[in-house]
Amino acid sequence: MKEYSDLKFKERILMGPGPSNVNPRVLLSMSYPMIGHLDPDFLKITIEVQELLRWLFQTKNMFTIPISGTGSSGMETVFANCFERGEKVIIGVNGVFGKRMCEVCEKYGIIPVKIEEEWGKPIKTEDILNTFKKNRDSSGIALVHGETSTGVLQPLEDTGKICKENNLIFVVDTVTSLGGVPVKVDEWNIDACYSGTQKCISCPPGLSPVTFSEKAVKKIKNRKSPIESWYLDMTMVEKYWSSERIYHHTAPISMIFALREALRIIFEEGLERRFARHKKNSNALIEGLKKMKIEPFVDEDFRLASLNSVKIPDGIDDVKVRKELLNTYNIEIGSGLGDLKGKIWRIGLMGESSSEKNVVYFLGALEEILLKEGFLNSAGQGTAKALQFYSSFS
Ligand SMILES: Cc1ncc(COP(=O)(O)O)c(C=O)c1O
Repeated sequence: MKEYSDLKFKERILMGPGPSNVNPRVLLSMSYPMIGHLDPDFLKITIEVQELLRWLFQTKNMFTIPISGTGSSGMETVFANCFERGEKVIIGVNGVFGKRMCEVCEKYGIIPVKIEEEWGKPIKTEDILNTFKKNRDSSGIALVHGETSTGVLQPLEDTGKICKENNLIFVVDTVTSLGGVPVKVDEWNIDACYSGTQKCISCPPGLSPVTFSEKAVKKIKNRKSPIESWYLDMTMVEKYWSSERIYHHTAPISMIFALREALRIIFEEGLERRFARHKKNSNALIEGLKKMKIEPFVDEDFRLASLNSVKIPDGIDDVKVRKELLNTYNIEIGSGLGDLKGKIWRIGLMGESSSEKNVVYFLGALEEILLKEGFLNSAGQGTAKALQFYSSFS
């Protein structure tokens, strides 16, 4: 009979596009004994998770819950609930995840009106406005805040105003931004926002925090046609998360424990300190890489601190370098996707993984590899530059 050994794998330094490293406190919380999903103690935990999520999303929205599923389940939830077959939604497409939004819409018969932009650039407000002027019968606008495939941070405020003034539902993907860079749901007039647990929240993958404004809730309640998903029907799921506490599906108990602990860690750190840490580590990394003649892929004003994309120097073998990073130094980074394959590296500095220790170790490892490859003449300059940058803060 075949035997299966105990789980065995190397612990990695996760500096790719996600998941990020998870604090041992979060892992420990998942080993707590099982409890019923209607147990009064568990219900208290769900209320705390909702409170902490509202705090993180910077919203007063009552309808703020974690969806059982990864970030894509949050994406699907938002579109399937907020819009109906035949409705138009203007979608910014400047990377993989804007494209995915369009695919999800098409599955539900929602018509995506695409604003295509070069990968690596943000969607321009004037293009959003012009597209809306040509499509005044649209019901919403959807943007990806942190485009993980390119490392672009999309400004949201102006679009929020356009949506407010024209009674449109503003949908925002914050899978790679929530917990790492500011996400101000109420201030920016966002109506439906989803994220994922495995990136800047530093929790394992498996839940998708979502929040809906009153405007979005009203639109969902006034739908003419039924929601075309059973599992993601928010009118039913809401009955478990509200005071009614009616069973819809069994809450993933241990994942909720993990999310509570991850959110508690963020709460202890505080939002401003956390955002400053992400920014500082991203800047240090870019300073170090520039010193090694590796240039950022995105213009400074639109760089996402949690996902740093840089151009692979000419003549350098993408796969060889990433393999060496993984096999010799235990570091995972991401490759480019689609047309950017072999052209950029995506270096994640998310949540627990966003640390001075990781930045310095990564730069040192990359310098050694690039020295061996003959791209650099000496090692240590990039690391020294980052250290010098850090010392300016003390
Ligand atoms: C911006 C963005 N949106 C959506 C998703 C989908 O999330 P998941 O892979 O957790 O389903 C991802 C995943 O990387 C993402 O980066």
